[in-house]
Amino acid sequence: MDTIKYILSEDQMPLAWYNIQADLPTPMPPVLHPGTKKAIAPHDLEPLFPPELIRQEVSQERWIEIPDEVQSIYRQWRPTPLYRARRLEKALDTPAKIYYKYEGVSPAGSHKPNTAIPQAYYNKQAGVKRLTTETGAGQWGSSLAIAGAFFDLEVVVYMVKVSYQQKPYRRAFMEGYGARVVASPSDETEAGRAILQMHPDSTGSLGIAISEAVEVAAQCDRTKYALGSVLNHVLLHQTVIGLETLAQLEQAGDYPDIIVGCTGGGSNFAGITFPFMGAKLRGEQQLKFVAIEPAACPTLTKGKYTYDFGDIAHLTPLVKMHTLGNSFVPQGFHAGGLRYHGMAPLLSHIVELGLIETRAEPQLGCFAAGLTFARAEGILPAPEANHAVKGAIDEALRCKESGNSKTILFNLCGHGHFDMQAYMDYQAGLLRDTEYSAEEVALALAGLPVM
Ligand SMILES: Cc1ncc(COP(=O)(O)O)c(C=O)c1O
Repeated sequence: MDTIKYILSEDQMPLAWYNIQADLPTPMPPVLHPGTKKAIAPHDLEPLFPPELIRQEVSQERWIEIPDEVQSIYRQWRPTPLYRARRLEKALDTPAKIYYKYEGVSPAGSHKPNTAIPQAYYNKQAGVKRLTTETGAGQWGSSLAIAGAFFDLEVVVYMVKVSYQQKPYRRAFMEGYGARVVASPSDETEAGRAILQMHPDSTGSLGIAISEAVEVAAQCDRTKYALGSVLNHVLLHQTVIGLETLAQLEQAGDYPDIIVGCTGGGSNFAGITFPFMGAKLRGEQQLKFVAIEPAACPTLTKGKYTYDFGDIAHLTPLVKMHTLGNSFVPQGFHAGGLRYHGMAPLLSHIVELGLIETRAEPQLGCFAAGLTFARAEGILPAPEANHAVKGAIDEALRCKESGNSKTILFNLCGHGHFDMQAYMDYQAGLLRDTEYSAEEVALALAGLPVM
């Protein structure tokens, strides 16, 4: 029998997250204070995050235990299935073997609850009452709303205005779990009011929504801020994806030659690749990693590796990362979760070490790949995940050309059931490919902080 799904039982779920910092040949550059531009101490992050998350942010330990309470909630949908894409392989007529890890089975429909649950847990433990956050596509806001319901925490979500307008069902979903959803920029914060004064029609950006959420958290007692990507502890929590996949591939008797993922802030890509990358860094395995980003927000392929703020109002610390400049406001293309101006500093550092191949893909080809996948495998991917699908299909077609059979693994980080407007627009021929031009890059980068 040709196995399609590799399933782990609940007692085979990982008991610890993997911290790749323990295996890096050179440490990450320090995080700097936004005012003094000197390296910050962990306690400087206390207005925003609870102590355990700060400890995880700077930890060099290889394994960090997953608390029992977090594991028990993970078990609501984890372990997630690993599929062998036999029907896609046939449709492409490729000699390659294609596997995908499906994170769309979570209650939010993506990988984001993998970090929302532990973040809410550690905040609750620290006596926090309310969490603020930003959301682009709505996947992260939904995940934190669910986590807030599990741990009885108030959740306020600043949702990028273009997504708020494009995705009313996402908003209703978050509100269903008891979260308050605010279109960003809003008039509730200084940062939001400043943007609205300059650009009354602003469609928003993750950089603006982060400013609003950080401002509120920094000013209120018992309110903290939660971020859905970019930070070390978020990438750490997502490694459950790759750790499960390792065990599932062992069941399949296989090991990948290539791992493909999409990158917005870098967390799902890190989640699937880091446990495998650790093996490469330790000299145990040889394999290739490919990160696919949208051509309209080409952080890794056209951005600069330098210190920048995480938000537009310069409230966050300065981190060294690939960035298009904190003032970058991308066009309202449909993969809302891939619209961030920066990239996870940890992933940026690893790209600089030469461990990851990066590619930028225009959206039309990604939607076409997503539908090829859906018609073969039956799952309609999130527009973000379509970037990974495109990367994996391209690798498989390369195998067809060369007659080489490689094992390709990709992360299907979410389903697209809340993204039907994007698919309707695509099918109606309303979407356009937009490249981020060299002039636009130069303009946005001109606003980088002087170091
Ligand atoms: C389904 C989905 N995939 C990918 C991303 C990109 O984030 P990251 O690169 O952190 O995985 C998002 C972000 O919102 C998302 O919703």
